[in-house]
Amino acid sequence: MSDPFRYDGRRVLLTGGSSGVGAATVRLLTDAGAEVHVIDVKPVEGPAASFIEADMGDLASVDAALAKVEGPIHGLFNIAGIPGTRGASSVMKVNFLGLRHLTESLLDRMPEGSAVVNVASIAGGGWPGHLTQIQELLATDGFANGLAWCEAQSEDLIGDGYGFSKECVQVYTMQRAKELIQRGIRINSICPGPIETGIMPEFKASMGVKTIEWTVNEVIGRLSQPEEHAPALVFLGSPGASYISGHNLATDAGFTGAMTTGQIDFSGLAG
Ligand SMILES: NC(=O)c1ccc[n+]([C@@H]2O[C@H](COP(=O)([O-])OP(=O)(O)OC[C@H]3O[C@@H](n4cnc5c(N)ncnc54)[C@H](O)[C@@H]3O)[C@@H](O)[C@H]2O)c1
Repeated sequence: MSDPFRYDGRRVLLTGGSSGVGAATVRLLTDAGAEVHVIDVKPVEGPAASFIEADMGDLASVDAALAKVEGPIHGLFNIAGIPGTRGASSVMKVNFLGLRHLTESLLDRMPEGSAVVNVASIAGGGWPGHLTQIQELLATDGFANGLAWCEAQSEDLIGDGYGFSKECVQVYTMQRAKELIQRGIRINSICPGPIETGIMPEFKASMGVKTIEWTVNEVIGRLSQPEEHAPALVFLGSPGASYISGHNLATDAGFTGAMTTGQIDFSGLAG
């Protein structure tokens, strides 16, 4: 292997590249030698090779974008996402159903050695409690059937859609790994803690300022920057990660580790 972190000769498709984590990832992938094509609702600035305007929550729009994507795709970075303030149905469409539709539709254009990298969240850490239901959703065929399944569920399960959609991304990442590796394609995700991006004011509105502050103060004591997540995404999509698949990598300054080992103090959330 030459430099295992380089993307020379690799064509990459990335959603959500216009701001935040996506924009930082476009820059880093380009520096690493990739040809980066961006799908977003907002125009992209910076070094992308092309921009396709599309709404990841709209099936027809995703299909129109797919028709514009040419040639082999060696890396798919599913980064676009919206907060719970936008309503459960929209959130499930953008954060999971559109992501799944784009991914499944592109697999035939992804040669051996390609990789899918998703952005989930620590907000999706509750998946073990909903595994049966999430696998029911994963068993639905396509965007419309997935949406019908979501609309038939109780609010108790789906809530505002944000946490549940990210649980679905984490389980999808694990569940697809076995079949895809047999086709030479890897799939992984990152699970970030709170990041200082344009989405943050809406997270404060939907989750509460107290929850965000508690999450950071239980570990590192500050929000992260998008540039602290892009390197993990770029690594997972690179040839250097050739034996890593089905993994949800916490980029959360230790929050998940502390939670799993019983070191998180929930009293800071009370009152
Ligand atoms: N900011 C955080 O605290 C945080 C924490 C964990 C996970 N995340 C996840 O990180 C990802 C990137 O978010 P960010 O923090 O960079 O926020 P951001 O709002 O800066 O970036 C989101 C990007 O997605 C695009 N987008 C939104 N809706 C779209 C749609 N329907 N179709 C296509 N593109 C769309 C936006 O235009 C934007 O470019 C999201 O999936 C988000 O859920 C964010």
